[in-house]
Amino acid sequence: MNFGSINIDYVYSVEHFVRPGETLKSDNYTIFSGGKGANQSIALARAKAEVIHAGKIGNDGAWLKEKLQKSGVNTSLIKTIDTPTGHAVIQVNKDGENAIIIHGGANQTFTDAEIEEVLDSCEAGDFLLLQNEINAVGKILQKSQNRDLTVIFNPAPITDAIQNYPLEFVDIFIINEVEGETLTKQKSPDAILNTMQKLYPKSKTVLTLGKAGVIYTHNEQRIKTAALKVKAVDTTGAGDTFIGYFLAELSRGSKIEKCLEMGTRASAICVTRKGAADSIPKLEEII
Ligand code: RIB
Repeated sequence: MNFGSINIDYVYSVEHFVRPGETLKSDNYTIFSGGKGANQSIALARAKAEVIHAGKIGNDGAWLKEKLQKSGVNTSLIKTIDTPTGHAVIQVNKDGENAIIIHGGANQTFTDAEIEEVLDSCEAGDFLLLQNEINAVGKILQKSQNRDLTVIFNPAPITDAIQNYPLEFVDIFIINEVEGETLTKQKSPDAILNTMQKLYPKSKTVLTLGKAGVIYTHNEQRIKTAALKVKAVDTTGAGDTFIGYFLAELSRGSKIEKCLEMGTRASAICVTRKGAADSIPKLEEII
């Protein structure tokens, strides 16, 4: 069960990210489907995992639901409401890096009753995947307890409010360096992982490091996988692609090394293409 955001991405190619007070020309503008939640669901489905996406869109978002469905995601828990779909304004510079503004829209309207409905749709043994682009994530974490779920949290985008969530209920954190630094107040990957272990001794942490690869930690165990060398065109959605492929492999009971390798390969392909959901490769390509 992936309980997460669905966004329309407005993507602008720029020479450099816009500076304060600057008006900047963009030579290329495209509308893509996105949202960290939806991207991760599509990655899971393309990796051939069974995934239900629970989310909300406005009347302008029917095409996003269709895209999820066509990618193999179960969309029975996506509601259409009278609030505009969430959206993102994304600048992509000539090195393929991005700068993103998000507006929550329908992603920010979940009620207590809807949270219960989603959690009641989970079965014992299921994975529950969360990002930080919908409202009430703290409440969802709280309510996820005693249901025999494996709770995976990707705290993106990171906010100060996250520190007040009951993070001790998270089984697996999937974080990047920025998120790791906010959660632990540490800078180096080793220090981030050591502190995560101290703060959340029962949890596992996967720390993604972009070009420098990824490290998995549980107790004393540390497993590192290098990134593949590719020419990046657009890094949007690379983290989401990694998460979908890593978790799909984990749900099949594969060894961590294999899960990391599949995630790494998938995200390497993703960055060579434009867009978020559209750049997520299929399992056949990874193999
Ligand atoms: O992780 C990439 C995503 O972040 C984009 O698709 C955008 O919608 C934002 O949510």
